[in-house]
Amino acid sequence: MLGKLSKWKSNLTAQELKEEIDLVEIPKHIAIIMDGNGRWAKNRGLPRIAGHREGMKVVRKVVQKANDLGVEVLTLYAFSTENWKRPKTEVDYLMKLPERFLNKELPSLIEENVKVRLMGSIEELPEHTKRAVIKAVKDTENNTGLILNFALNYGSRFELMNAVKEISRQVELGKLKTDDINESILEQHLMTAELRDPDLLIRTSGEIRLSNFMLWQVAYSEFWFTDVLWPDFNESHLEEAIAVYQKRARRYGGV
Ligand code: IPE
Ligand code: IPE
Ligand code: MG
Repeated sequence: MLGKLSKWKSNLTAQELKEEIDLVEIPKHIAIIMDGNGRWAKNRGLPRIAGHREGMKVVRKVVQKANDLGVEVLTLYAFSTENWKRPKTEVDYLMKLPERFLNKELPSLIEENVKVRLMGSIEELPEHTKRAVIKAVKDTENNTGLILNFALNYGSRFELMNAVKEISRQVELGKLKTDDINESILEQHLMTAELRDPDLLIRTSGEIRLSNFMLWQVAYSEFWFTDVLWPDFNESHLEEAIAVYQKRARRYGGV
């Protein structure tokens, strides 16, 4: 298998890609910055929201594929703390997507043993959005398959700042000593508290930046960038990213 992987080329067919993937070395946590919906729509002379609608369909396919491959956690960046800057009509549409997605897909997610989880300032979401996502978390809380972690109104700087605040409060209350603060304590105050760090970070649409996503958690993640716009992303692209990941040597500062 490794010999085959070393000959990996980007023009393999879907079937060949499947054969390239080592099912034992599947990244346990994959995080995706789903970008390019607006450009996808613009390229077709459609309003930006048409791109978001199409992007939602891709989420379904990618979740299923990740679950089939045995990925443990799939984190999807759906809305950042900076995305409120967009026109109100677009923000309103984006806030409707979670319930549209869940109204349609929650029964099959339950069926597939997927556990929905949230990361971000959920309190600030519109009531209808909040209700839909909280219901999904509750209805899937006992599931033991793929953890589907939606980053909604998520920003890593806010997350880190908030962790600092919470830790400071514990110091103020005398529950913690400054000298006892360590990485593990900080991690416990992040929105990923009980999750492992992403092994693989994917960003679509050709942008090579993090846009305030999981700044602490991706310290040793492998990055895979593609020019493919999110609505054009499919299962084969995910397999391609995993195949590339499997060729990387993760050294964590060692030799
Ligand atoms: C990603 O697509 C979806 C969200 C950020 C909510 P964009 O809407 O950012 O699409 P582009 O980057 O403008 O093409
Ligand atoms: C990042 O994409 C946020 C999500 C994908 C939800 P953006 O489109 O908001 O990022 P920038 O503005 O290009 O950095
Ligand atoms: Mg974008």
